[in-house]
Amino acid sequence: MFNIDYFKQLNKEDFYESLLFFAKGLMDGERDMIANLSNVSSLLYNTMENVNWSGFYLYKEEQLVLGPFQGKPACIRIQLGKGVCGTAVSHKETQLVKDVHDFPGHIACDGETNSEIVIPIIIKDKVVGVLDIDSPILNRFDDEDVRYLETLVEYIKEACEWGA
Ligand code: SME
Repeated sequence: MFNIDYFKQLNKEDFYESLLFFAKGLMDGERDMIANLSNVSSLLYNTMENVNWSGFYLYKEEQLVLGPFQGKPACIRIQLGKGVCGTAVSHKETQLVKDVHDFPGHIACDGETNSEIVIPIIIKDKVVGVLDIDSPILNRFDDEDVRYLETLVEYIKEACEWGA
């Protein structure tokens, strides 16, 4: 469906513009949340350099529960306010963690992870889930990643049916 090698030769801006274009295409005409989140986690995992986990946690029963992802098996439930993901929910803002070992309460699902970015998915002021991306290298993500990945989350929000 898409050529992964194509992404490797792009500078960061072009990479993200292409990523957003492909993500939009993958979700076009499809409202099913699980299907769309599955394809987006695969798109991220297979195109982003130095990424060992990409996926979603979904807000259910006042906690985060593991959703569609790519990478090694991960912790299933995360309490609000705990770890990087739970902090993104309780603060309702993106967490950019340059070194996870410096983040109090970081939950180590994959010991290879050294840096991480978590973006909350907020609909009508309620967090419905988070996008979580992990890297084996320190300092993998910067403000440009934040900007584009927050845009990706906006696309995901609009594309999917989130239920009641
Ligand atoms: N590190 C996360 C837990 C999820 S895994 O990275 C997949 C956290 O501290 O919330």
